[in-house]
Amino acid sequence: MNTAPHIPHSKPCLGEEEAAAAAVVIRSGQIAQAKRVAALENSFARFCGRPAGAVAVNSGTAALHLTLAAMGTGKGDEVIISDFVCTALLNAVRHAGARPVPADIDPKTLNMDPKDVTRRITEKTKAIIAVHLFGMPADMNALMSIGMQRKVPVIEDCAQSVGATIDGRPLGGIGHASVFSFYATKVITCGEGGLALFSSGKAADRARDLRDYDNHADDTTRWNYKMTDIQAAIAQTQFNRLGEFINRRKEIAERYTAAFAGLDVELPFQAPGRIWFRYVIGLRKDHSVESWIKKMADYGIACAKPVFAPIHRMLGISGYGNSESAWNRLVSIPVYPAMTDREVDRVIDAVRKTSREAA
Ligand SMILES: Cc1ncc(COP(=O)(O)O)c(C=O)c1O
Repeated sequence: MNTAPHIPHSKPCLGEEEAAAAAVVIRSGQIAQAKRVAALENSFARFCGRPAGAVAVNSGTAALHLTLAAMGTGKGDEVIISDFVCTALLNAVRHAGARPVPADIDPKTLNMDPKDVTRRITEKTKAIIAVHLFGMPADMNALMSIGMQRKVPVIEDCAQSVGATIDGRPLGGIGHASVFSFYATKVITCGEGGLALFSSGKAADRARDLRDYDNHADDTTRWNYKMTDIQAAIAQTQFNRLGEFINRRKEIAERYTAAFAGLDVELPFQAPGRIWFRYVIGLRKDHSVESWIKKMADYGIACAKPVFAPIHRMLGISGYGNSESAWNRLVSIPVYPAMTDREVDRVIDAVRKTSREAA
């Protein structure tokens, strides 16, 4: 029976700095969207080189929905998404009134396969959402060129990849628009929160307009997607620590990669510019993901299927062989800056033992 303290699968890295930043806002009495939100928006717009500006909102899902709405996506339209993602994508597309069309993934990067996107694009396709999954950049060169040829905008979903780059360019500054999430498990967090960035000033203005139902002369249906200044102050403090977070994640990932080299597991794909939001390993064909996760839990370590269920399963459709195979063999193990070296040692030890035992 394991008696060591439980190691969660995810844990935010928050401390006195975040508490102090939130306290300043609370003491000021100005807690709703105001100058802290504007400052966070400026930080992201500058970081990703997007002068058209950022629009901070209260979740990543809201950012996706608002972006689609601001770009004119609606009823009768189709939006291509990756099949191997969380259902936030499915919901956001449906909130916009459009039909989600999943594309299969590249088995190496686990991101949307541009060749399958080409196969699934139609006259009705109004947007492609490229998720940079687990911190791994999607193939933006290929996706942007498909978008250009077919006159379809590409939205980057950077919910899991803030700080990652392609050829030195920060993700979030490449597509026609991009979104971020600041949910508690994400690279930077304020509990719940999100942000959208646009290359077009017109779309950014439209998103700003739709974010807030109040003080408009017309009766267009709008939302309340606003972020509070308390959230923005916490997110800004986290954003200032981004380099520290990314480095610690990399340090842990490198220790895992060195330690697991001789084991019978498939190691995650390395790419220049990736960050380590998740460390996802592939199991041997004769090992079941469920029993593997159970064995790790017996050692006091929470692991998880990295995606609850692929989108095609949610939709009850077939034809997604790579995504299905990823779902059947991949396990995500803890990697986050709040982990101590001792906890990293424990994970390494448990993975070694678990991967040797037939599960
Ligand atoms: C790739 C991706 N997109 C969007 C979202 C939605 O973000 P939120 O939970 O902030 O609504 C998530 C969140 O888990 C995500 O992983």
